Amino acid sequence: MSKLWGGRFAKNTDVMVEEFTSSISFDSRMYRQDIAGSIAHAKMLASCGIISQEDATLIIDGLQGILADIEAGNFSFEVSLEDIHMNIEKRLTERIGAAGGRLHTARSRNDQVALDTHMYVREQVGEVAKLLFDLEQAVLDTASKYPDVIMPGYTHLQRAQPILFSHHMLAYFFMFERDFRRLGGVWESADIMPLGAGALAGTTFPIDREQVARELNFGRIYENSLDAVSDRDYILEFLAFASILMMHLSRLSEEIILWSSTEFSFIELDDAHCTGSSIMPQKKNPDVAELVRGKTGRVFGHLMAMLTVAKGLPLAYNKDLQEDKEGLFDTIDTVKFSLTVYAAMLRGTKVNAGAMRQALKTDFSNATDMADYLVKKGLPFRQAHEVVGKCVAYCLNEHKTLTDLTLTEFKEFSPLFAADILEAISVETCVAARNSLGGTSPTQVGQTIDIAKSVMEKQQKRLDMYTKIKL
Ligand code: ARG
Repeated sequence: MSKLWGGRFAKNTDVMVEEFTSSISFDSRMYRQDIAGSIAHAKMLASCGIISQEDATLIIDGLQGILADIEAGNFSFEVSLEDIHMNIEKRLTERIGAAGGRLHTARSRNDQVALDTHMYVREQVGEVAKLLFDLEQAVLDTASKYPDVIMPGYTHLQRAQPILFSHHMLAYFFMFERDFRRLGGVWESADIMPLGAGALAGTTFPIDREQVARELNFGRIYENSLDAVSDRDYILEFLAFASILMMHLSRLSEEIILWSSTEFSFIELDDAHCTGSSIMPQKKNPDVAELVRGKTGRVFGHLMAMLTVAKGLPLAYNKDLQEDKEGLFDTIDTVKFSLTVYAAMLRGTKVNAGAMRQALKTDFSNATDMADYLVKKGLPFRQAHEVVGKCVAYCLNEHKTLTDLTLTEFKEFSPLFAADILEAISVETCVAARNSLGGTSPTQVGQTIDIAKSVMEKQQKRLDMYTKIKL
């Protein structure tokens, strides 16, 4: 296939080089953005008198025909035409003749690919936001569904203090809420229009960049043409957002895997969301959580890869920048699929309140409350800590828990203990007493659920804005 840039070449491109330099196998997914960008460009060229209205009409009709062909599966992408931009432009000229050759006036593939990728990222921010919003809803529903369930809270993966299961889930809600906010930052950075930068320095034609920005619903325009064609910050920001989101999902996965083990038995995953073993008939494995934890690695890898690609590049465009896409696209696909299966898995998960309660019966997670009891009777906290430490050591020796002790036994450790001690260290009291702002008491958790609901209402508005733009 003859090249759009063939003029100065005396030889054909080596087939191996064509394959090596081509990006069509992955950038063809931006065909809608490429066509929408070209239509906006053609309209602008005509209204600025750079091409005739008749040529613009031919170009626009031709591009719409190509769009229909691609959507119908009637378009064959050629490796020899390198990328999505030249595949479409070449086909346009075949369809409409000389007018097709005027489309690339006042434009370079450098600002064209930047435009396509900005539009693609902006659209995908909307898609990811929808799925993230749904996951947040699933987390919030899970938190609201079990308002009274108490579980051991952990530090160092050692039982620490009793907490509400809802409180634990809400911690994840707020992680995802921050992810949603970070996604808003990605949107802002993607919503800048690069077209008109030309190859690097702008163009000699009297173009109207504002018109193109309006046509394509961009909020801003790049101020500097070199920056416009070299900037990949919005991709890096997406990858950073995705890495943090996957890190959160991976942490939750780790807990889900632990909790669904026989040793914990805190939750039961739905059969539909687990897989079996080809040899061990009894197995029911939490593969979804494990794979999400595992896929976190590739997303981190894509972030590192892109940072590394960008770090040594002189201005302006360098072919290295073509390496921005595969990692971005794989990240988008990985994040979307992970969010989708995750929300479904959470909705199918049952909480085993009995196992959580049983765990609390055999531990010392009320020890802090016992120390606090003595403090409230006047003992300095350090001394109270020491007294309770001794009680714990005594119980361990006697194979007892703190609530098994008789009042006589309690009084041997401190005369401040009275009959109300058992009530003071029951798990319900421990949880209800942590009523400080943001604590685990039912009152606080109830208020937090209300806050989370109003967060969701605000996010719904952002979501409507992200998904409003249809190109
Ligand atoms: N396929 C290229 C990319 O993805 C498009 C831009 C090519 N520009 C160039 N001067 N070779 O980056």
